[in-house]
Amino acid sequence: MGRIVINSSQYEPKPIVGYADQVSVAPGESVQFMVSLDGASAFDAQLVRLIHGDLHGAGPGFKEEEIEASGTNGTYAGFKQDTYPGSCVEIDAAPKLDALSSLTAQVLVWPTLPDLEREQVLMSKWDDDRGAGWSLFLTGSGELAFRVKHADRDAEEVVLAGGLTATVWYLASVSFDAKSMTVRLATRAIRGSYSSRILYTEPGGRNENRTTKMLQRGLPDTAGIPTFLAARNRITLAGGRHVPTAHFNGKLDRPRIAGRALTDEEITRGVLDPNSVPGMLAAWAFENNLTSVGVKDITRVWDVTVNRVHGTTHNMPVRAMTGFNWDGTEYSFRHAVDQYGAIHFHDDDISDCKWQPTTSWTVPAGTRSGVYALRVNALVDETMEEDYLVFFVRQTTGTRNSRILYIAPTASYLAYANDQFAADSPFLETLAGAVPHMGEMDLARHQHREFGMSCYDVHSDGSGVCYSTWLRPILTVRPKYRHSITRVWQFNADMHLIDWFDRMGYQVDVITDHDLHREGHALLDGYHLAVTGTHPEYYSGGMLDALQSFVEDDGGRVMYLGGNGFYWVTGFNPEDPRIIEVRRANGTEAWSGEPGQQHLSFTGEMGGIWRHRGRAPQKLVGTGFIAQGLDRSSYYRRNPDSFDPAASWIMEGVGETERIGDFGLEQGGAAGLELDWYDPKLGSPAWAHVVATSEGHSRLMLEVRENVSLTLPYMGGDLDPNVRADIVYFKTASDGAVFSTSSIAWCGSLSYNDYDNNVSRIMKNVVDRFVGDVPLP
Ligand SMILES: [Fe+2]
Repeated sequence: MGRIVINSSQYEPKPIVGYADQVSVAPGESVQFMVSLDGASAFDAQLVRLIHGDLHGAGPGFKEEEIEASGTNGTYAGFKQDTYPGSCVEIDAAPKLDALSSLTAQVLVWPTLPDLEREQVLMSKWDDDRGAGWSLFLTGSGELAFRVKHADRDAEEVVLAGGLTATVWYLASVSFDAKSMTVRLATRAIRGSYSSRILYTEPGGRNENRTTKMLQRGLPDTAGIPTFLAARNRITLAGGRHVPTAHFNGKLDRPRIAGRALTDEEITRGVLDPNSVPGMLAAWAFENNLTSVGVKDITRVWDVTVNRVHGTTHNMPVRAMTGFNWDGTEYSFRHAVDQYGAIHFHDDDISDCKWQPTTSWTVPAGTRSGVYALRVNALVDETMEEDYLVFFVRQTTGTRNSRILYIAPTASYLAYANDQFAADSPFLETLAGAVPHMGEMDLARHQHREFGMSCYDVHSDGSGVCYSTWLRPILTVRPKYRHSITRVWQFNADMHLIDWFDRMGYQVDVITDHDLHREGHALLDGYHLAVTGTHPEYYSGGMLDALQSFVEDDGGRVMYLGGNGFYWVTGFNPEDPRIIEVRRANGTEAWSGEPGQQHLSFTGEMGGIWRHRGRAPQKLVGTGFIAQGLDRSSYYRRNPDSFDPAASWIMEGVGETERIGDFGLEQGGAAGLELDWYDPKLGSPAWAHVVATSEGHSRLMLEVRENVSLTLPYMGGDLDPNVRADIVYFKTASDGAVFSTSSIAWCGSLSYNDYDNNVSRIMKNVVDRFVGDVPLP
């Protein structure tokens, strides 16, 4: 996908922006707020509970409730906070590497952007501030190069002519012999049938390349200079934090440093057997953390020499990637650890902005669970600027203020966090049949990617984004944010539901996906009804287990009020669950992962969609993903099943032939955007009632790819009878029950006609019956 180039001088990031450091907090716990302010010296902060966030003129408008919080509300001094994206490895202090007179640095390299027109560092012990060190890097045209500099001298440099080819593995090395003062640079292509993209050598080309050059002066003393893989140090901040630069894009495998000039044979042997090479000082084995349940201590890399010169990753480069020696015999790192010794680095990775907290809030006992934010305002250039730092106050396990529990789909918010659809995704424009509405925030986000992207985007090197973190400003999880195509998506679409509960007088307890993943089934204990958001697409196995047990074992009831739910296998970082992981493959997807890289580094399990792991959403909620289209939404009509006395109560007050949801804030109808259908082949219960089905979808509402074994000339909603949303209701033996509306647009219709409409009526019928004490008919 190409990027649109927009004049960067026009769109600045928000003058005031920030984030809450926790996804959810319970009474007694604290949340910290990180704020960056540019163009003013102070800002006001006010805690609010959010009720409705969609500014659509036909809807109820923005609603918030200010919350007393004397230690938090007030005026604060503000300052600009910097963000440093780009992943790499920083090696712990390593005196053994400080005063080398001779050196070999070697690494297997799979560059993704060799022609980036700027330097990309592979290995370095270099400091820009001091102007000293050594660096093994790729030049702007992808040629291997080595630079040495003493603080008081000009740099000396050696370049190996002939650039590397993208996504082909090379063994790259530099050696310097102090006695002869000779530097030797070498590359050797590894044309692995599976691991490299190109098999053959071009006419006139060579697989091996080398050069030598005499240096005027030897290596500098590098004591106190940090060692980096995939970057070099630019500045050291107060407190000792190093800020690297010249990030490498691509994979590295088996980096090694020796204290003498190794022979070709030793360099080759050092790849797989580093401790057999005399003088080997450090040999990092990225594969050493791989276990059958994921990458243990995922931010650490281990040195396997006696020196134990370990390192730490910055900004979560992707672990458990196929290495130079991946031979296609196994497709999971669990089964061939040695072949997954690569880490994929990106210059736009971000895992934690690491801003300074400005203020915090300790949630008082008795605080109502819900959707909260710290509202921050500042007058900048005579304009009142604002931001909302969203977080959730969760219901404490074992307490209950309602029979109804809303599960805020925070894993799905993370998957979509800071999406670049407006600028990067031509497919969205064709699905919508419309040009995206690009707001200033879309343009600013597009220009300033330091806040990271979503799992729908690709990195600057074209590889898919598979990690997403809460620890950054997420400008899409904001009240008032207008989505470029559908007006609201995810957060503000879910606020339609929060508003409906509020307006209809229901008290609702709130938890998040993160809580459900952490605590599981126990968190649902005592509730009669668990309600989803409009698009709970990203689920871990533990979250699915929790809902399944709730319905099957506890007689709990679930209202699945969205479309394309329970779809992607999702991992939470066990060391910091605020970071999630998705490995895309063979679903309806924005990008496709590379072969052999479909297992989650966080858990070791196979990624992709749950359907392909034998756990289609139809099994859990009776319906599953069938079609998507963004141009306009449609309506449902009642089916004969809705007149069966076992289900007719759902439709009380709804006429026999009336159109259900022929109105709404989400493209004009309740059945739209993404739709699910009843499919017994994939596990929809045979005894379920399909009470209503949508109709009248457009040609742009297309059946999803995983449902067809070959592409057909009729996959649009105007001809394809599969393109529909089925409202499904079923009971279980324990008096549990599920009601699924099967459309993302459903909740956008709730407020129509001052909440007096057939979508709202059906919702009320089901909620009241599901939470009541009378057994279901
Ligand atoms: Fe989605």
